[in-house]
Amino acid sequence: MAITVSTINMKGGVGKTTLTFNLAWYSAWKATLKVLAIDLDPQANLSQYFMGAVEYLQYIRKSKKTVVDIFEQFSAASGLSGSPELVEPEDVIHSLYEWEDGSLLHLIPSRLELAWTLKNPTEKAQLLPKFIAKIADNYDLILIDCAPTESILTTAAYRSSRYVVVPVKPEFLATIGLPLLARSLKEFALMHQDQQLDMAGIIFNGLKRTNTPPEQINSCRDVKELADEHGWHVFDNSAHHSDSYPTGSRDGKPIFMTSNARAYVKTEFHEVGQEFLERINLV
Ligand SMILES: Nc1ncnc2c1ncn2[C@@H]1O[C@H](COP(=O)(O)OP(=O)(O)O)[C@@H](O)[C@H]1O
Ligand SMILES: [Mg+2]
Repeated sequence: MAITVSTINMKGGVGKTTLTFNLAWYSAWKATLKVLAIDLDPQANLSQYFMGAVEYLQYIRKSKKTVVDIFEQFSAASGLSGSPELVEPEDVIHSLYEWEDGSLLHLIPSRLELAWTLKNPTEKAQLLPKFIAKIADNYDLILIDCAPTESILTTAAYRSSRYVVVPVKPEFLATIGLPLLARSLKEFALMHQDQQLDMAGIIFNGLKRTNTPPEQINSCRDVKELADEHGWHVFDNSAHHSDSYPTGSRDGKPIFMTSNARAYVKTEFHEVGQEFLERINLV
């Protein structure tokens, strides 16, 4: 059965999508796992990284199913004549790669209309974990890329997950979302005592390797202090700043397949990926 991990931080632009994309690739390509990535952000950046902007647009234009259809299965608006229409896994799971060694990379894409789910939440949060339970045996790892807001989508992600992993960009006010996250995890644990949800750790992303500005050094110190207070692990390895991350994402390639990425950047991400799999007990 798959281990499900959500990438979360209440702050935007910290590398949630970049890390989800690269960790999913790492787990499938380097660790030969069966990986499903779920895009749970209405911005659909992860979908575009995996599919490429053009193919993604075609997918949406053809009205193919997305994660929105999982949440709207029972809404009056879905289905012909307004009757509920159950989503079949094969309709919503987009197969990206399947290799001969058995490893694979699949995606459940998102679309902007996911924001609509937030307008009319009702009991929808349960629909994602229910859907995942049906398909969990087909995968080793399910990675969920979350939106940077506390919403029914966060609850759905938590409800589906065994672990959360938290990318943090060391910058001014980097700690600002973390107390909120701590509160949200604590509240969740109180309300769902039937479920174990653990913090796999904080991953620093975007740290400057050389000439590290004092702002980043101070920020790392503050984040570590806060992590200590909450008993959270901080990854020993981090994904430093590299222009190859945006370049790779644009080309649909993980950092270790990006031709102009420096060797140390690739090696470093290998260490991040390895530590990630160790933290979630997949090695
Ligand atoms: N380690 C990194 N080095 C350089 N740029 C990065 C790095 N990580 C992310 N980025 C860039 O920063 C921006 C925000 O990253 P993203 O993963 O979209 O954050 P989030 O999902 O948290 O909003 C993107 O343009 C991305 O390409
Ligand atoms: Mg994102």
